[in-house]
Amino acid sequence: MVVCKTGITMLKARGKKVLRISTGSITLTNLTTFEKYSHVKKMREEYGKLDKVEMSIWECCELLNDVVDESDPDLDEPQIEHLLQTAEAIRKDYPNEDWLHLTALVHDLGKVLLHPSFGELPQWAVVGDTYPVGCAFDESIVHHKYFKQNPDYNNPAYSTKYGVYAEGCGLNNVMMSWGHDDYMYLVAKENGTTLPSAALFVIRYHSFYALHRSGAYKHLMNGEDFENLKWLQIFNKYDLYSKSKDRIDVEKVKPYYLSLIEKYFPSKLRW
Ligand SMILES: [Fe+2]
Ligand SMILES: [Fe+2]
Repeated sequence: MVVCKTGITMLKARGKKVLRISTGSITLTNLTTFEKYSHVKKMREEYGKLDKVEMSIWECCELLNDVVDESDPDLDEPQIEHLLQTAEAIRKDYPNEDWLHLTALVHDLGKVLLHPSFGELPQWAVVGDTYPVGCAFDESIVHHKYFKQNPDYNNPAYSTKYGVYAEGCGLNNVMMSWGHDDYMYLVAKENGTTLPSAALFVIRYHSFYALHRSGAYKHLMNGEDFENLKWLQIFNKYDLYSKSKDRIDVEKVKPYYLSLIEKYFPSKLRW
C-alpha cells in the first residue's frame, strides 16, 4: 500500500489498482460547510469547460472502476457492477423505457471527478446528498445542523425561503451543491445527448434527497419538474436497492448498452 502526500491511498482490491481518497469523517462537515454559492459557481465554471478528457461513455464506465466512493456501502463492488445492476433491474421492470436503462448506466459517471485526470476532487465535493444553494437550507437535508458553519447561512441574500430565486422558477434555474450529479448532467447536455428531459432530471437530482425523499423545495419547481420527479422517484428505488443482488455478466449485457450509447450519445464526449 502506498500513501502519497495528497492523502490518496493506492491499494490492491480484486487484483485491481484502486484509488481511495482518505478524507474519512471530515467529508460530512466539509460537504455542508464548504458547498456555498460561490464554491458552486466556481466549480460549474471550471468543470463546465469540459476540457479534461475525451472519451466514450463506455470508456468512462471502465475508468470509474478505478475510483472508490467512500459513501458507498458496497466498497468491494466495482462501480460498473452498480451501474449495470441498477440498469438491468430497471430494464426487467420497464422493458420499453430504453432511455431509463441508459440513464441508470450513466447516472454515477460523474464520480470520475475523484480520479487524478479530473483534479482528484475530495470526496465531499463529489459524493453525498445535494441541495440548492442561494436560498435557505431546508431542515430535511441530512445533518442540517452543520449548515450553521456555512457562510451562506448568515448571508441575508441566501438565507430566505426563496433567496435569489422566484416562486416556481424551475429547478433548472436553481444552483445545486456541486457533485457527481450536476457534473454528469453538464457532460450529457453539453455533448448534445438526445436523452429526454426526464433522463437529465434523474441524472442531475438523484442525490437530492430533500426533494425526492422529503418533498422539500417544491416552491421552486415548475410543471416539467413535477412530471420528471415521478421518474426520479421510480429510478431512486433501483439506485438504492439494486446493490449486491445478482452478479452481472458484463460481457453478456455490454452489446445492449453499447447500442443504447450509440443511440443517445456521440461516440466521443468531452469531459
Ligand atoms: Fe450517485
Ligand atoms: Fe448510484
